Amino acid sequence: MSPRKTLNIGLVGCGFMGRAHSSAFLRVNQFFDCDAQPVLKAVCARNPAAAEAFAANWGYQTFTTDWRDLVARRDIDLIDIASPNDTHAEIAIAAAEAGKMVMCEKPLGRNVAETRKIVAAVEAAGRANMVWYNYRRIPAVSLARRLIDEGKLGRVFHYRAKFLQDWTISADLPQGGAGAWRLDASVAGSGVAGDLLAHCIDTAMWLNGPIDTVTAMTETFVRERTHAATGKRQEVTIDDAAAFLARFANRSLATFEATRYARGHKAQYTFEINGETASISWDLHDLNRLQYFDHRDEDQVRGWRSLHVTDSGHPYMKRWWVPGLQIGYEHSFVHQVADFLESLSSGEPASPTFREAMATDLVTDAVLRSARSGRWEEVER
Ligand SMILES: NC(=O)c1ccc[n+]([C@@H]2O[C@H](COP(=O)([O-])OP(=O)(O)OC[C@H]3O[C@@H](n4cnc5c(N)ncnc54)[C@H](O)[C@@H]3O)[C@@H](O)[C@H]2O)c1
Repeated sequence: MSPRKTLNIGLVGCGFMGRAHSSAFLRVNQFFDCDAQPVLKAVCARNPAAAEAFAANWGYQTFTTDWRDLVARRDIDLIDIASPNDTHAEIAIAAAEAGKMVMCEKPLGRNVAETRKIVAAVEAAGRANMVWYNYRRIPAVSLARRLIDEGKLGRVFHYRAKFLQDWTISADLPQGGAGAWRLDASVAGSGVAGDLLAHCIDTAMWLNGPIDTVTAMTETFVRERTHAATGKRQEVTIDDAAAFLARFANRSLATFEATRYARGHKAQYTFEINGETASISWDLHDLNRLQYFDHRDEDQVRGWRSLHVTDSGHPYMKRWWVPGLQIGYEHSFVHQVADFLESLSSGEPASPTFREAMATDLVTDAVLRSARSGRWEEVER
């Protein structure tokens, strides 16, 4: 085997996603046969002690507290952005202008204007780029896509998605700062729309095509919180919960709901699709299974089948253990890196590119516009 080419990574952010990405960069070559090998060159985080400890734990060669150091380095090929949403535009644009490949966490921008600038910059640079919509690469979700592409569902009538959490119900929770930046609109851009609905929308459009129009409602249940940075009570302007109806371009109808106020739910992402001949449904809490109902089955045994998506013929699974043994959340990130490395060899962009991911930001923008206007809103293209 010829030696693998190295792909030198500069990671920004060493929180939840910094860990998920690092784990994927480290493990990908042990399980997937890719031409390139990620090398953990340098990591950046605001707190020097945290950055140093992270570098030591994951094996990054150096650390810094200024992402510009990573962008300026000639020995870094790819900037991976795993920091809060208010940092994405500045870092992605600078990285693109420096000729780097860029990976970025979702949502790309805090709003559509930011997202459009980011997409323009990476496309002008002409380097590989990808957004971490990792749920597509959970094998059961990838299998759903395969079944739809094979026409097993026939014409699709309905799409139903929910993403439920309960971690912001306490009115004592501050907004802003390291722990609660998601509650500060100036950092996050929006609340559950850009955070949770974005995942539901990305998967939905990947499985069922573009969304044309939406009508939405949002609510901010706790209107004032202490800001971690100022210590003062400040208005909360994110959406705590959002629900919307949508019409896809293929004329199927959809309902979406996301909230951080569903007591008892920590991260329950579910979707169901009803077609003319079959239906499928999936639940993140049981992520190795895909539920499948086929109306064409012989009537005496017709019913919902619970597919355990662990066979070697299932997407990605032949790379892991023997059939019947399960994998987890973190593997979706490994799959995404494997597909990205494969794209560097094939020249076929890994999906979602920044442009493809912008489609999701355009839907969340229409959702927030509709919640304000109280009317159906068209999704911009
Ligand atoms: N794909 C997914 O499923 C998924 C899940 C969670 C978060 N996300 C996204 O990932 C991003 C990060 O979220 P998280 O949960 O990992 O956040 P986090 O709060 O756990 O970590 C954020 C990290 O960014 C660093 N940081 C903040 N500002 C910085 C700056 N100016 N320069 C350098 N580093 C900086 C912090 O030091 C911290 O290490 C967000 O865009 C979020 O929406 C995606």
